[in-house]
Amino acid sequence: MRALTWHGKHDVRMDTVPDPEIVNPRDAVIKVTSTAICGSDLHLYDHYIPTMQAGDILGHEFMGEVVEVGSRSTLKKGQRVVVPFTISCGSCYHCNKHQYSACANGLPADNQDIARQPYGHEMAGLFGYSHMTGGYAGGQAEYVRVPFSDVGPIVIPDGVSDDKVLFLSDILPTGWQAAEYAEIEPGDTVAVWGCGPVGLFAIQSAFLMGAERVIAIDHFPNRLALAKRFGAETINFEESATYDALMTMTGGIGPDAVIDAVGLEAHGLFFDNVIDQIKASTFLGTDRIHALRQAIIACRKGGRVSMPAVYGGFVDKFPLGAFMEKGLTLKTGQTHVQHYMPGLLNAIMEDKIDTEFLISHRMPLEDAPKGYKMFHDEQNETTKIVLKT
Ligand SMILES: NC(=O)c1ccc[n+]([C@@H]2O[C@H](COP(=O)([O-])OP(=O)(O)OC[C@H]3O[C@@H](n4cnc5c(N)ncnc54)[C@H](O)[C@@H]3O)[C@@H](O)[C@H]2O)c1
Ligand SMILES: [Zn+2]
Ligand SMILES: [Zn+2]
Repeated sequence: MRALTWHGKHDVRMDTVPDPEIVNPRDAVIKVTSTAICGSDLHLYDHYIPTMQAGDILGHEFMGEVVEVGSRSTLKKGQRVVVPFTISCGSCYHCNKHQYSACANGLPADNQDIARQPYGHEMAGLFGYSHMTGGYAGGQAEYVRVPFSDVGPIVIPDGVSDDKVLFLSDILPTGWQAAEYAEIEPGDTVAVWGCGPVGLFAIQSAFLMGAERVIAIDHFPNRLALAKRFGAETINFEESATYDALMTMTGGIGPDAVIDAVGLEAHGLFFDNVIDQIKASTFLGTDRIHALRQAIIACRKGGRVSMPAVYGGFVDKFPLGAFMEKGLTLKTGQTHVQHYMPGLLNAIMEDKIDTEFLISHRMPLEDAPKGYKMFHDEQNETTKIVLKT
């Protein structure tokens, strides 16, 4: 089959690789029909995530048709399914608490120890996202093996287009969880750093959860325009100082909740960000946490910080004093996708959530390397790329 493979920094290629097969009784094989490139894939493309190996198949946002099932899969051949990016057993201690992205059984035995030293525990299994998360082949491919297919994939009713439901695989539940973790109360003002796919879904979700005002921060005019379309007020951080603007907009109180939907590759010529960048490029540091620092500094006293953004390592200049003295709380994590999928599918079917607005480009899977370059280099024009097989 044809698949997108990783070979190093800014080097992804379409290769011919062996077709996947059923390995365990709970597996299914999916013929991919649509798959998207994620902001998280850019962290791999820029080689910020360790334990990648040349030839790894990327992709964790995908859907398709069931073509093979193991003896204990509950899926049937011919069904259309969206697959969550988290690989979760459904019955361990964590899965029983619906903390699917903390599943203890998602990793093959050989990969269990990789994250133990830096994180204290193993990570969950994720599709196409390094060997620390299991080394699973991803879905930017013609076919993909889906472990625990009796737990993860959600069956899509006939007649609903791929483009409408594809984002149930990751970014829609991620934006929703981000808003849920912001613990929004009616009347709240919520500030969202980053108007990429995750930020834009967090904005829609925040309004649905009762936020009175959402303030969106980015520097790409097209992305800010999409935020406005959902009713957000906007700050272009290249035109105004974000902290000052937020204080003016909230009468000096600060937002009730702040959401960091930027992550470890924060943009901007800010003093702290330049230092982070130098440290990352000389292997003295890992993450650029400018957006998170700014969110904590701007958040009102007693407010909430939600951090869907991905970070990988150790940081300095973390405003621990501000965090403590203002009495903030922080919630974060890889998304518990399986927990949110059924409710969000209903919300899409009832037209409560708009998903297709986000797609700026559709292209054949064969053009995936071009898609990665565009999503990386032209973020103003490229909000989301969907690859079709
Ligand atoms: N927790 C999860 O399970 C999960 C799932 C999916 C994505 N993510 C993470 O969420 C983050 C966002 O994902 P995405 O797909 O929207 O990515 P993206 O790269 O498309 O969007 C990030 C946006 O942040 C903006 N930005 C950069 N620096 C900024 C700054 N200083 N202030 C304000 N905005 C700034 C960029 O201009 C861009 O529009 C990434 O870190 C991604 O890895 C997490
Ligand atoms: Zn993703
Ligand atoms: Zn589990």
